Amino acid sequence: MRDNNFYYKEIKRLLEDKNALLLAHCYQDKAIQDLADFVGDSLDLARKAVRTEAAVIVFAGVYFMAETAKILNPDKKVLLPDLSAGCSLADHCRPEEFARFRARYPGHQTVSYINTGAGIKAMSDYVCTSSNAEDIIRSIPEDQPLIFAPDKNLGNYLNKITGRHMILWEGSCIVHEAFSKEKLIQLYRKNPEAKIVVHPESEAPVLQIAHFIGSTSQIREYIRNSNSTSFIIGTEAGIIHQLEKESPGKQFIPLPSHEDNSCACSECAFMKVNTVEKLYRCLRDETPEIFVDETLLEKALLPIRKMLSLSR
Ligand code: 13P
Ligand code: SF4
Repeated sequence: MRDNNFYYKEIKRLLEDKNALLLAHCYQDKAIQDLADFVGDSLDLARKAVRTEAAVIVFAGVYFMAETAKILNPDKKVLLPDLSAGCSLADHCRPEEFARFRARYPGHQTVSYINTGAGIKAMSDYVCTSSNAEDIIRSIPEDQPLIFAPDKNLGNYLNKITGRHMILWEGSCIVHEAFSKEKLIQLYRKNPEAKIVVHPESEAPVLQIAHFIGSTSQIREYIRNSNSTSFIIGTEAGIIHQLEKESPGKQFIPLPSHEDNSCACSECAFMKVNTVEKLYRCLRDETPEIFVDETLLEKALLPIRKMLSLSR
């Protein structure tokens, strides 16, 4: 195990030598965020992956994100430091089961959240992220019945704000689902001046009392532009690193999960399997690499392209 300085210098050198682009989600470890060419949310990262001229994309995030980058760049090498970086949403929505679920609702079109594998995207009419889900759903004629998968909490929220009655797959994010209204109220009583900001993967009782609901990039933007100086952060605690850089002098209070009385924050264990050491090895050896079956890739590309053209 070498020190962080070694990894920092070597990763920077390898990125340059190999004409590689390092994309990082804002839930990644701080050191990885600091090394990245770009840090963003799922939509920002997909957009960056389309526009790059780099020969290699190194994705510091979870599997479905790197896989989306590969679908958008079939001729490029896409690397993920640890292939076990899953997601409770993507991993609990398997194509065979989902095909049976869809078959129960003839005439329905499918909107799938980007937090899915290529097999689900290939069966979808639309793909969305938490940034653009409302716009995508509003772009679909109101009389068109819809299935939304896999996040039931995001789906419920979207049904509420758009007035639709989408049929929902029963999936959830283990990180956001662990936030409780009771903990949030306790924290708010201690910090009554704070604004409550929450990601829409959280459950309805938590969303109900938030001052702002949005994707990770929308949360960052809201805080940058807010006159308030204190915020309760209802999403994965890795985002606080970007918030501290972009909004210095403001106070960020992480919302703990309901089971957790010891730790002050909520972390996504899947995101955190990537480390600077694994990132260094992955760039040096150009492995692990993401591969997607060609037929699946062509089918999954269609709704992803549609999403990018419908997004502001
Ligand atoms: P966004 O970054 O798109 O808001 O999504 C959050 C998330 O849970 C990613 O897995
Ligand atoms: Fe998946 Fe939730 Fe982790 Fe995001 S935070 S990668 S939705 S488990």
